[in-house]
Amino acid sequence: MKIAIMGAMPEEIAPILEKIGEYTTTKYAHNTYYEGKYAGHDLVIAYSKIGKVFSTLTAASLIEKFGAQMLLFSGVAGGINPELRIGDLIVATALCQHDLDITAFGHPHGYVPEGSQFIQAEEKLIAVANRVAKEMDITLKEGIIATGDQFVHSQDRKNWIETTFKADALEMEGTSVAVVCEALEVPFLILRAISDVADMDASFNFDEFLESSAQESAVFILKILEKI
Ligand code: ADE
Repeated sequence: MKIAIMGAMPEEIAPILEKIGEYTTTKYAHNTYYEGKYAGHDLVIAYSKIGKVFSTLTAASLIEKFGAQMLLFSGVAGGINPELRIGDLIVATALCQHDLDITAFGHPHGYVPEGSQFIQAEEKLIAVANRVAKEMDITLKEGIIATGDQFVHSQDRKNWIETTFKADALEMEGTSVAVVCEALEVPFLILRAISDVADMDASFNFDEFLESSAQESAVFILKILEKI
């Protein structure tokens, strides 16, 4: 099976590329796609650049152009649930867009007609992730991830996202990737390690912990690949 590994930033896929060692590169649509092998799987790997638009393009390209039959996203997130500390891992059970707003027409936040407010994640892949966490003896939180084209660094915005969507973590790509995968019937997993808690200190913490948290997430994704 050909599996896509996707991140948003170079730091999020670098540990995977380093681990697989040998790969070919293809330039497509202003991006670079890396193809190699790991644990008996053909892999296609890319980072999208930050945000919903670029991540939509990359997820669709990984599937439609490069033939990925499953997509695993690895990266970092801002924590909302106080149980989540910097470095902790969360896997999305459902995802939503916190910045999508046509409430003026009576719709709930995050909803557009013919879409849905939440995208449900793949239970089978979450089960694999839980088995990996158990074997590694680490805590993996399951929860709702909210996505938006905003780096959240305020308690007020964070509280609003928490109360509106019951979200446990937030980031900038997960839901757009989930929308693409659901529409194209490709199983997906969105895994994130916490880099900050989306408060006043978020930008400082993000800069400090991006690399280490991205590494935590990538190591976990490699273990998942060994189990699939
Ligand atoms: N990814 C990691 N931290 C984030 C934050 N505070 N806001 C949006 N995306 C993030």
